[in-house]
Amino acid sequence: MNNDIKEVLYSKEDIKDIAQKIGSQLTKDYAGKNPLVICVLKGAFLFMADIVREIKTYAEIDFMDVSSYGDGTESTGEIKIIKDLDVPVEGRNILIIEDIIDTGRTLSCLVDLFQHRKVASVKICTLLNKPERRIKGIEPDYVGFKVPNEFVVGYGLDYKGFYRNLPYVGVLKPEVYENN
Ligand code: PRP
Ligand code: MN
Ligand code: MG
Repeated sequence: MNNDIKEVLYSKEDIKDIAQKIGSQLTKDYAGKNPLVICVLKGAFLFMADIVREIKTYAEIDFMDVSSYGDGTESTGEIKIIKDLDVPVEGRNILIIEDIIDTGRTLSCLVDLFQHRKVASVKICTLLNKPERRIKGIEPDYVGFKVPNEFVVGYGLDYKGFYRNLPYVGVLKPEVYENN
């Protein structure tokens, strides 16, 4: 285990199992709907790869790069679109893949944006949900795990750009971010 991690919450096996479960539900729910599955970079890159391989029906994929946190541990309240989609979304069934929903600000902005672009439907699939921190009324449609209000990293989730490559989700030791 990485020395900066206090505790492992979800192992790669836990995540593989939940991705299979969610994926088979998505296969049923999106059969015949030609969804556009959108990965919210950077955090969702690993979970996206797991989920799309479990969707056994026609699906298109695309990527958006949005950022809210900057370098700190708190969200800044507005999101920055660093890379937008490559395709128009009007009339499409959108499935957003996220690593975590915290305050809900990122997804609230994205859902508003897609509704403005006149999509047919928009649903949210997230590996982790942290409802205790919610500011915006965002409820995910597909959830891997509910996490406590602690600073979690790994499996795509970062602190200052690090720890995304950990193959599990763990709690960061408070001294790591308190001393920085
Ligand atoms: C993180 C995370 C979610 C968002 C959740 O992304 O990956 O996208 O914050 O927080 P919220 O619910 O309070 O909006 P971040 O902005 O850190 O960018 P990153 O994915 O590139 O790390
Ligand atoms: Mn993110
Ligand atoms: Mg981040």
